[in-house]
Amino acid sequence: MEIVILDDSEKVAERAADILEDYVRRGATLGLATGSTPLHTYQALIRRHREEGLSFADCHTFLLDEYIGLSAQHEQSYRETIRREFTRHIDIPDAKVHGPDGSAEDLQAAAEMYEQQMAAAGGIDIQTLGVGRNGHIGFNEPGSSLVSRTRVKTLHPHTVQDNARFFGSPQDVPIHALTQGLGTITEAGHLMLLATGETKAEAVAAMVEGPLAAVCPASVLQLHPRATVICDEAAAAHLKYRDYYRAALATKPSWQHH
Ligand code: GLP
Repeated sequence: MEIVILDDSEKVAERAADILEDYVRRGATLGLATGSTPLHTYQALIRRHREEGLSFADCHTFLLDEYIGLSAQHEQSYRETIRREFTRHIDIPDAKVHGPDGSAEDLQAAAEMYEQQMAAAGGIDIQTLGVGRNGHIGFNEPGSSLVSRTRVKTLHPHTVQDNARFFGSPQDVPIHALTQGLGTITEAGHLMLLATGETKAEAVAAMVEGPLAAVCPASVLQLHPRATVICDEAAAAHLKYRDYYRAALATKPSWQHH
């Protein structure tokens, strides 16, 4: 794992955009996360598209997860959110923006179909991730199998509470979701997890320096040969080895890739 600690959330977004830009230039398949953390990164990429001509025309995108019970057009569905916040501002056709179908009658079949779609696209080259306060990634809540595939999960009450800010009230937040499993996520070629703010400090410490355990789903990044964690000072506050991570970054050889 490479741990990149930067001053603030703007620097986190620019660093994440730098890494993604390399993939975009190669027409890669991008795994996208929703949530507020990656929004600044998406804005940085939109700016590079507008001002520097960065083209996404050869890319495919796949969402991590989707609420169950909202239509794809619902303004809080993850499909619509990613469209509104990112993909409609860049040159990627809507047909190349994929997500699990949370409105399907047969959710198990929808989950299997989504796995097949990702495989048919050649897999995810780089997966952007946020992290929940309890260490969830996608909607893989504590207790998720470390080898799980795309399936239905029940949101933890804290996750419902955290996501209520996007809805009228907590009662309006769906409590089920279709999410890529931890086994699915770790098949991506590169995992890039972003964390900002002090509310994420405990989850970041558990993910990076705690045991590999289903109780902290994000700790599955420890199993991945190419995982980059980019966080601001506040989110890094509980890391025991943060001085070492800073030193490793400061002395990183130019031949070492991201
Ligand atoms: C949701 C999403 C996750 C996201 C998490 C954190 O539960 N399913 O993919 O990482 O929220 O969101 P935020 O970035 O808003 O803190």
